[in-house]
Amino acid sequence: MGKSLRGVQLTMEAFHYFPSSVYLVQKPEFLEVVNGVSEEALSKITHDVHEIYPMHNTDNYVGDPRLEGFCTYLWQSGWDILQSQGYDMTNVSVMVDAVWTQEHHKHSLMEQHVHGFGTQLVGFYFLETPENCSRAMFHDPRGGKVQINLPEADMSVATPASNTINFAPEPGMMLISNAWLPHSFGRHGSDQPIKFVHFNLSVRYNQTCAAPAAEVI
Ligand SMILES: [Fe+2]
Repeated sequence: MGKSLRGVQLTMEAFHYFPSSVYLVQKPEFLEVVNGVSEEALSKITHDVHEIYPMHNTDNYVGDPRLEGFCTYLWQSGWDILQSQGYDMTNVSVMVDAVWTQEHHKHSLMEQHVHGFGTQLVGFYFLETPENCSRAMFHDPRGGKVQINLPEADMSVATPASNTINFAPEPGMMLISNAWLPHSFGRHGSDQPIKFVHFNLSVRYNQTCAAPAAEVI
């Protein structure tokens, strides 16, 4: 904490609750196989890039057997993240529901959104990140704070006052966050597209005993 105008240092102890976490790891070992599957999926898109929304979304390719190692890493990481956040993960499995590629061309962006429909965690795995490419952005999910927020002293520094933080992508970088954390991408400024995988993880409670069969009368 900085000094007040009176030069008195804040001496109160601060407790930080209700955090919004973003997890980052470099996983270049998956680039070759994921790029291969991704390019195949992109090659199936035959329509031109849209003038207003210059990006392509592939179909979900989560079932591709070549991605077994990648998807195993995703669900294991997701389980570890949720447990580390304090959730009771006893008899809980993390499922990889969707893995797909987004290819954003010049001037494209991804508007701010969250993921519903049972998704617990979301993430990105970056494949191609040309110079001046979009940045991955995460936004404060607390509507009350956003409404009354004061100007920040230095917007280039992530602080408890920040409304938005961003990450400069690079190939092999993976980001994961809770699905309730709003995210977006800034406008893409390169003539070469940025390509990344977006993925959704959900949880399932393991069945510990069989339900009795319904009695047919
Ligand atoms: Fe998303």
